[in-house]
Amino acid sequence: MAKKPTSSNSHKASAQPRYHQSARELQAFGTVTSVMPLQLEEPVRLEMTEQLNQLLADTMTLRDLYKKSHWQVSGATFYQLHLLFDKHYGEQNELVDTIAERIQLLGGISIAMAPDVAETTRIPRPPKGREEVPVQLSRLLDAHEVIITHCRELAELATKLGDAGTNDMVVSDVLRTGELQVWFLSEHLVDAPLVETEPLRESA
Ligand SMILES: [Fe+2]
Repeated sequence: MAKKPTSSNSHKASAQPRYHQSARELQAFGTVTSVMPLQLEEPVRLEMTEQLNQLLADTMTLRDLYKKSHWQVSGATFYQLHLLFDKHYGEQNELVDTIAERIQLLGGISIAMAPDVAETTRIPRPPKGREEVPVQLSRLLDAHEVIITHCRELAELATKLGDAGTNDMVVSDVLRTGELQVWFLSEHLVDAPLVETEPLRESA
């Protein structure tokens, strides 16, 4: 009779890695741990983590929109936009980690995988193909606006509920980064002359 594999409950030391394991979830998505030494009650942390997951899904989508734009940009401003889009991508990527870890430290569960992000985000899905620069810029600015609007509402709600840490992160990190990136994008949509200006007319 074949010898049975050692039971996982025996905890016998062995050099054999245990492959293909599975178990039930430790914590369900959409819940928070009940007690934490943060002086923030469970309902507050539940509300904040729900809001932050929306912000996270939208920020992940904006981040990926920047990478798409970085790869697919074309035209006379290719080089500067290729670099700028990647710089903004990196900054958004840092925000993603900051938001996700705030959700975890509040006792919640961060959204993580692409299909879940796609289901949750409020930013419209772009086409798979390449778009012109003005359309890329407009798409990015519209996505920023979704996030900035949410940041202002969320910052106010966090203050009302006594969660100063979420207020600070939303304003100092997410909102301030977004505002600056909006400025850098918007200036590319000013139709200023590149080579020849309109001459001043002599007054009569
Ligand atoms: Fe690259």
